[in-house]
Amino acid sequence: CGIVGYIGKKEATPILIEGLSKLEYRGYDSAGVCVYNQALNLMKAKGRLAILEEKVTNNPLKGCVGIGHTRWATHGEPSDENSHPHYNEDETIALVHNGIIENYLTIKEKLETKGYTFKSETDTEVAVQLIDYYYKEKNDLLDAVITAIEEIEGSYAFAILSVDEPDKVIAVRKDSPLIIGLGDGENYIASDIPAILKHTRDMYLLEDQEIAIVREGDITILNVNKESLQRDVYHVDWDIEAAEKGGFDHFMLKEIFEQPNVVKNTLMPRLPLDQDEILLDNIKLTQSDIEKFKQIYIVACGTASYTGLVGKYLIERVSRVPVISEIASEFRYREPILDENTLMIVVSQSGETADTLAALRMAKKAGAHVIGIVNAVGSTIAREANDVLYTWAGPEIAVASTKAYSAQLCAMYLISIKIAMELGKIDTNAFKALREELYALPDKIESILKQSHKIKALADQYKSSKNIFYIGRGLDYAVSMEGALKLKEIAYLHAEPYAAGELKHGPIALIEDSSLLVGLVGQEELFDKTVSNIKEVKARGAKVLAIALEGNEAIEKTADEVIYVPRTHWYLTSILLNIPQQIFAYYIAVGLGHDVDKPRNLAKSVTVE
Ligand code: G6P
Repeated sequence: CGIVGYIGKKEATPILIEGLSKLEYRGYDSAGVCVYNQALNLMKAKGRLAILEEKVTNNPLKGCVGIGHTRWATHGEPSDENSHPHYNEDETIALVHNGIIENYLTIKEKLETKGYTFKSETDTEVAVQLIDYYYKEKNDLLDAVITAIEEIEGSYAFAILSVDEPDKVIAVRKDSPLIIGLGDGENYIASDIPAILKHTRDMYLLEDQEIAIVREGDITILNVNKESLQRDVYHVDWDIEAAEKGGFDHFMLKEIFEQPNVVKNTLMPRLPLDQDEILLDNIKLTQSDIEKFKQIYIVACGTASYTGLVGKYLIERVSRVPVISEIASEFRYREPILDENTLMIVVSQSGETADTLAALRMAKKAGAHVIGIVNAVGSTIAREANDVLYTWAGPEIAVASTKAYSAQLCAMYLISIKIAMELGKIDTNAFKALREELYALPDKIESILKQSHKIKALADQYKSSKNIFYIGRGLDYAVSMEGALKLKEIAYLHAEPYAAGELKHGPIALIEDSSLLVGLVGQEELFDKTVSNIKEVKARGAKVLAIALEGNEAIEKTADEVIYVPRTHWYLTSILLNIPQQIFAYYIAVGLGHDVDKPRNLAKSVTVE
């Protein structure tokens, strides 16, 4: 979900709608705005922001203070009624919310006994009614908000507007991001920087359980005891242009083509050619620190979690330290073994994924050392991890991750090589060989991008396949997972990743003439093994598309079609093998007429469990 707020001298509605359009990627099944003008005037609509925009154009909402929201449904299906902002019963308080209120049913029952009735199924309406309840008791909006949040369990970022105190918007957060933008005689609220970057580059990043009272001319930040807090101004130095499409049909394609640069930005500053070491920003991992770690966990969700699998293969194979790569939503509830001899690496593009954040907090609490591989600067995970290694991918707008994933792999390469060097598993010569290959990656990615016409033709050829299997062994297996996920996410095709050797233990029964097998053969020493598995599937009628290393033309005897990627050090094959999969999924989705950048049912940043 996304939040925007404005208070100043300008008309609020256009600012809110424009801001929401920059946040739509955070969730987009409904949207709404509320603007103060003698009363609180509300307008909301199910569906894309364009629908709300049309409503507002036909029925302008005048006023210079307002709040807006785009929603990705959690409690209650997408509908006009369930979209935000929500009112209290007498429509004197309006509120927008990101997050989930866990005890909303208890609060709702309590309020019902006091005579409150509810229009929507949302946890959010419960919050605004609870504030109303305390407002009637205390006659002060701030006091009412503070008392209400003491009672609310769960996660929230709220922006609150009231008829009685229209000179301010109150903003408060817990486990869901919220920022305040500083203007001149006007101020802004947003859940994410791009929403307000057009208006200001100076922001306060609110911390958990901090309350901002945002007025036209000033901003006060308080803790729950109403003590005023001093915050440093965070200056955003990246450009809004970076968040726009720049000539490509979709953000996803633009982001795929940005990868040579992203890889350069993530790797080069950390790999100076005049020193034989890796500079990991402020991360001080000395030999004795690393020797202390008996167990490494790599924890993440979705695409980011496949970075973990690659990391596991690399670290175990070279450094011989046990690594568990795990999905955050599983990790957090299985009581994993954690102590001060544990290193945890969490990987997250947004830095806000609820499950990943919870896993990080668990590990920290148990005394483990946590490194975050994060893209969004200043995000919660970046702030809470003991150390951060930023992936300099820039804002990623397409919901399906491409460039952020490649940057995550680069960060994982750097960390894993660093660990190996400190443990004496990679000597200077071996390091230099790897560094040379890391430096060559951007050009090699460029050469794969040049094949996009060919890959598009293959996508057209195979877009009506019914069951698609991605197979590989070792590092290729990790790559196959990301390949299948991309296809599910944006093309809505049924695609399964499988360890090549495992297919015959069941899934092969699904193979028929309409099936497509994408065979990944990037592991030189496993080439023959995987080729045998590909043959087993081909013999049962499937078409085979192989992704192979240049020079391994022998694959043409088995595969119907082959996409070649340049050779590199075995350590780095995954990043190259994945690029054709991204392009393939993109063109299939385009060919099938899907909304590539905003696939159905998905949100870019999932700040609920
Ligand atoms: C969502 C997105 C995925 C992403 C995952 C993890 O489900 O749709 O594309 O991989 O969250 O996000 P993160 O921001 O933590 O990398």
